[in-house]
Amino acid sequence: MKIDLSFNPIELDELQIRDKNVVVVDVLRSSTTIAVALSNGAREIIPVESIENAVKISGSLFGDVTLRGGERNGKIIQGFNLGNSPLEYTEATVKGKSIIFCTTNGSVAMHRSRFARNLAVGSFVNASKVIEFIEEVNSDFLLVCAGRANAFANFSLEDAVCAGMIVYELTQEKSPDLELTDSSRAALGLYKTYGRSILKMLKETDHGRYLIEIGFLEDIKLSAQVDSYPVLPVLSGNVFRLRKDED
Ligand code: MLT
Repeated sequence: MKIDLSFNPIELDELQIRDKNVVVVDVLRSSTTIAVALSNGAREIIPVESIENAVKISGSLFGDVTLRGGERNGKIIQGFNLGNSPLEYTEATVKGKSIIFCTTNGSVAMHRSRFARNLAVGSFVNASKVIEFIEEVNSDFLLVCAGRANAFANFSLEDAVCAGMIVYELTQEKSPDLELTDSSRAALGLYKTYGRSILKMLKETDHGRYLIEIGFLEDIKLSAQVDSYPVLPVLSGNVFRLRKDED
């Protein structure tokens, strides 16, 4: 089993992804928010790559069972029901709802990966579920870090460290078949360096500092809780739902 890793989704060719097994990691905050929303009973999450598409799709769905969620610059998009704070996605708000989800990096990476054979969403809050899933599929995987489109290097330390944690746990199985690429090895190294205090690491990242500045410290604390939302969002058709045995 080869574990490859992309530090950002820019280079990803939608067609190259076809038939690959993919996990998209956007710790702050899209992957975390999706895990929380589905844990709290949301029916499905529909990832879209642009606000225009979110509006177009929601026009064709029933108003009272559909919500629009997402952000630009970390803040709720005008006309949307929800932003991208996992704390907004409470049971009272999301139970039974379809959520059209549009964020700067996370939903774009998910949308680009939509032709994968298996596509799951990973973050610290559901890391063990992702690891179990990879072990169960037992085939090559590509871990896609959502990165940061507005940053020059389009690199997010928090995504790389989380992907590195997944790689680390897989290496602990000591399977002779496990093969790492240069990029998955690099993420493993980052996890070994920064994984000792996940909360501290998240608070110090570029995006973490920005989120704190605009009032979302609590989101960071939630995002740092390993396995606090032990669910596996997987793409089925064009929507993320909990894996069959979980809903
Ligand atoms: C994104 O998709 O770029 C993020 O999840 C941004 C955010 O923190 O809302």
